[in-house]
Amino acid sequence: MAYNTIQVKTEGRVGVITLDRPSALNALCDELTNELKDALAAFERDEDIGCVILTGSAKAFAAGADIKELQEKDFISLYKHDPFAESWESVARFRKPIIAAVSGYALGGGCEIAMMCDFIIASETAKFGQPEINLGVMPGAGGTQRLPRAVGKAKAMDMCLTGRMMPAKEAERAGLVSRVVPAEELLDVTMEAATTIASKSLPIAMMTKEAVNTAFEMGLAEGVRFERRVFQSQFATEDQTEGMAAFADKRAAHFKHR
Ligand code: CAA
Repeated sequence: MAYNTIQVKTEGRVGVITLDRPSALNALCDELTNELKDALAAFERDEDIGCVILTGSAKAFAAGADIKELQEKDFISLYKHDPFAESWESVARFRKPIIAAVSGYALGGGCEIAMMCDFIIASETAKFGQPEINLGVMPGAGGTQRLPRAVGKAKAMDMCLTGRMMPAKEAERAGLVSRVVPAEELLDVTMEAATTIASKSLPIAMMTKEAVNTAFEMGLAEGVRFERRVFQSQFATEDQTEGMAAFADKRAAHFKHR
C-alpha cells in the first residue's frame, strides 16, 4: 500500500515503519497516525513478520502531536473523535514485538508513541521530553502514566512540569531506553535485535510481551499467577517441545510457529 507520511518495508521477518513527514519533524497528524495504524494492522496480519521497528529521521523520531491540527480542536470534537484512542493506541495494542529506534527529538506524542513500543533503542542524539505544559496542556497520549512507570515519579514530574528535554544518556540511566548507540549504528543495532526476536517462536514472544506488560497493570500476586498460568500453557505448544529437545540434542531450535 502507498502511504504519504510513513515508509514501510520488510527485511526478512522484520517489518520497518519509518515516520516520514520531514517538513514538520514527523509531527503526528491524523493522516500519519491513521497510516501508522493501517501499517501495523497489515504487519499484525502478515504471518511472515515476527517483529517490527518503528523509527523516524536522524533529526526527529517525532516532535509530538501536530500542534497546528490540535489548535483547531475543542472539547466536544476531541471527545467524539478521540484520535489517541482511535489510532495512536494501535501502537500499544500491537500484539507482536515492536521496538522504537529513536534519533533526535522524541517530544510530546513522539515520546509517548516510543513508550508504547516494547522497548526503545536510542541514538546518542536522542532527546526525550513532554513539553505539552509549554502549550497550556498536559501529555494526552499516555505520558503522565507510562513515563512515571519507566523513570519513576521524580523524573516524570520534572519532565512533565518543566517541559525540559532529557538527553539519551540520562534516559538510559533512568530506564526509559534499553540501550544508547552511536547515531550511525542505530538502525543496524535495532535490526539485529529485531532479527533475533523474530527468530524465536512468535506466539511465545507474544505471550512474553503480554506477561511483561501485565506487570504494569496488575499487583504482584495476581501478575505472578498470570505468568504461571501462561507458562504452564506453553507446555501445550510444539515450540516448547522443540526448544527443549534442541537444547538436549545440542542443536539449534527450529520453531514451527514463527
Ligand atoms: N506540530 C506541528 N508542527 C511542528 C511540530 C509539531 N509538534 N514540531 C515542529 N513542527 C514544525 C514547525 O512548525 C516547523 O514548520 P515550519 O517550517 O512550517 O515553520 C518545522 O516543523 C520545523 O520545526 P522548527 O523550525 O521549530 O525546528 P527547530 O529545530 O527550530 O526546533 C523543536 C525543533 C524544538 C522540536 C520545535 O520544533 C518544537 O518545539 N516543536 C514542538 C514540540 C512540542 O511541543 N511537542 C508536543 C506537541 S503536543 C502533544 O504531543 C500532545 C500529546 O501529548 C499527544
